[in-house]
Amino acid sequence: MNDRVHGDYVIRELPVEREQLARLAKLHHEVLPSRLYATPEKQAKFLDELMNSLSERESLVLAAFDGDVAVAYKLGYRTGNRQECFYSWLGGVHPHHRRKGLARALTRMQHEWAREHGYLYIETHTWGDNPAMMILNLQEGFTAVGSLSAIDRPGARIIMRKLLRES
Ligand SMILES: CC(C)(COP(=O)(O)OP(=O)(O)OC[C@H]1O[C@@H](n2cnc3c(N)ncnc32)[C@H](O)[C@@H]1OP(=O)(O)O)[C@@H](O)C(=O)NCCC(=O)NCCS
Repeated sequence: MNDRVHGDYVIRELPVEREQLARLAKLHHEVLPSRLYATPEKQAKFLDELMNSLSERESLVLAAFDGDVAVAYKLGYRTGNRQECFYSWLGGVHPHHRRKGLARALTRMQHEWAREHGYLYIETHTWGDNPAMMILNLQEGFTAVGSLSAIDRPGARIIMRKLLRES
């Protein structure tokens, strides 16, 4: 996917390489409040999980840069054997760079890529207590199709889908 300029930022597709994913794993721990105090061991484990999940199947890694610094990311991969569902897994924007349309721009690029790659729909799971993500997903064409109860914390993840083409 070609680089895209968004205001002061450049959005790029990154290769699934450990060095690149390490930058995004670091950002992920700055972005998600629940990850802020993760131990170095947990952070290393998360990087392994990123590498495994994204290298085992078709995937897309998008990141937005302010100069050389990654400030936002969106990661997803194919689920199942058929080119049916692209799962939008993780995404976030550094607190200093929010409300500048970066999450929306990343979402649109991801959907464009998935459509071009023949996927039927995109699925994402959003915590019900994350209004920013829920609102953005609804604005970008997702609908809620179900929910998953959490076993390790209160609340539920809302399963959201967006059809990319007629089946
Ligand atoms: C959710 C998140 C990705 C949004 O990033 P962002 O770049 O600030 O979002 P955008 O600027 O593209 O906003 C798009 C729209 O989403 C909605 N939105 C974004 N943040 C919002 C907030 N805090 N409250 C309510 N609506 C919000 C608005 O409708 C916004 O459009 P507007 O600015 O024109 O009103 C960011 O807040 C974040 O990183 N949160 C923590 C990580 C996270 O929750 N990740 C998802 C689960 S992995």
